[in-house]
Amino acid sequence: MGVKNALTAENLRSAYGGESMAHMRYLIWSDIAEKEGFPKIAKLLRAISFSEWVHARNHFTILGGGIGDHLVASGAVFGVGKTADNLTGGFRGEEFEIDQMYPVYLHTAEFQGEKAAARTFGWALEAEKIHARLFHEAHEAVKSGKDVGIDAIFICDICGHTAPGSAPQQCPVCKAGRDAYREF
Ligand SMILES: [Fe+2]
Ligand SMILES: [Fe+2]
Repeated sequence: MGVKNALTAENLRSAYGGESMAHMRYLIWSDIAEKEGFPKIAKLLRAISFSEWVHARNHFTILGGGIGDHLVASGAVFGVGKTADNLTGGFRGEEFEIDQMYPVYLHTAEFQGEKAAARTFGWALEAEKIHARLFHEAHEAVKSGKDVGIDAIFICDICGHTAPGSAPQQCPVCKAGRDAYREF
């Protein structure tokens, strides 16, 4: 693959970096949630971590080449805290992607006629909206000392769509079949 326009290539590198960090951050926070006695939040973090991995893989694949440094746009926090703080960092990072980063990257890619990049940015944007909502839900639970009430989470391996409870027959974002979902 590969992209023609430098600005969209830069945005892909940035988003690849941001998603890679989110993937790792959520795995680290998952271990902390487990230790604090929130196994369902730990699982939620692992599942969402996989969704970010899907986004990172898609961005990376479209880049298709090049060597050099890149800046990472990120509204994320760094380091560990208690699970309540980590979840606050989680929804803030997701909200940065929803309100700032992905709409700008998506519109830039569309303006530049970069179809593959626009598709991967659009797919990520849709998943991040669900992630923000789930992190808010988990945060509310933790504030009252409870685990979140989600038993299973399904992630689309094609686009990262995140479905708590059960997998749909067809992914509403990328239209892949149910088989594309990985269960956590
Ligand atoms: Fe996310
Ligand atoms: Fe999908």
